[in-house]
Amino acid sequence: MTDNQKSNSPNSPQLPVLSLVVAVAENGVIGNAGDLPWRMSGDLKRFKQLTMGHAMVMGRKTYDSIGRPLPGRVTIVLTKQRDYDPQHGEVRVAHSLEEATQQLVQTEMQQDQLFVVGGAEIYRLALPHAGRIYRTVVHATPEGDTRFAELDAHEWRVVEQTEYAADEKNEFACTWEVLERME
Ligand SMILES: NC(=O)c1ccc[n+]([C@@H]2O[C@H](COP(=O)([O-])OP(=O)(O)OC[C@H]3O[C@@H](n4cnc5c(N)ncnc54)[C@H](OP(=O)(O)O)[C@@H]3O)[C@@H](O)[C@H]2O)c1
Repeated sequence: MTDNQKSNSPNSPQLPVLSLVVAVAENGVIGNAGDLPWRMSGDLKRFKQLTMGHAMVMGRKTYDSIGRPLPGRVTIVLTKQRDYDPQHGEVRVAHSLEEATQQLVQTEMQQDQLFVVGGAEIYRLALPHAGRIYRTVVHATPEGDTRFAELDAHEWRVVEQTEYAADEKNEFACTWEVLERME
């Protein structure tokens, strides 16, 4: 990670903004037994719209749970295993966030943002370098074994917020938010 990216400026001309995309319940839960703890197709649609045409970095465990590359995007799997084989030719492998950022440049994807899409270990790794967070607050308190870190209210401000009611396709009501790091 360069000093420039560490400054997290969403307007940096040279480096992509590291943007986290996360759905987090009111109790901090983001996952359970290797899967999402809810069925929210509206949120998956938002995820698709946000990430389409971009590269996404995900932890090896999250990639294992998805099991395939997502169309229209480049998947970069973060692993410590030097001989890791994702079993899909178009999926890329990186061993650090720096390496993932370097890989973005070699793709045809949009260069403005590199999306960090979980899970908890990878969010923890990326958060200090992130400039933006697309957060879905899921209004529920499900059981789970994987949690998102508490955000420091002095570091992040909410710049957009939209409420959605639960419906037949979305198990729980939620709030879609965009947060930006304060300068
Ligand atoms: N709600 C949401 O928005 C959301 C989003 C994504 C995932 N999830 C959930 O989160 C859970 C998975 O999260 P998780 O924390 O268990 O796993 P994860 O973050 O997906 O993956 C962890 C793996 O990433 C690799 N890794 C970790 N630190 C690394 C580093 N410094 N350098 C290189 N590679 C590194 C390691 O792979 P190796 O073991 O191969 O070395 C590690 O085992 C699942 O339940 C999933 O459904 C939720």
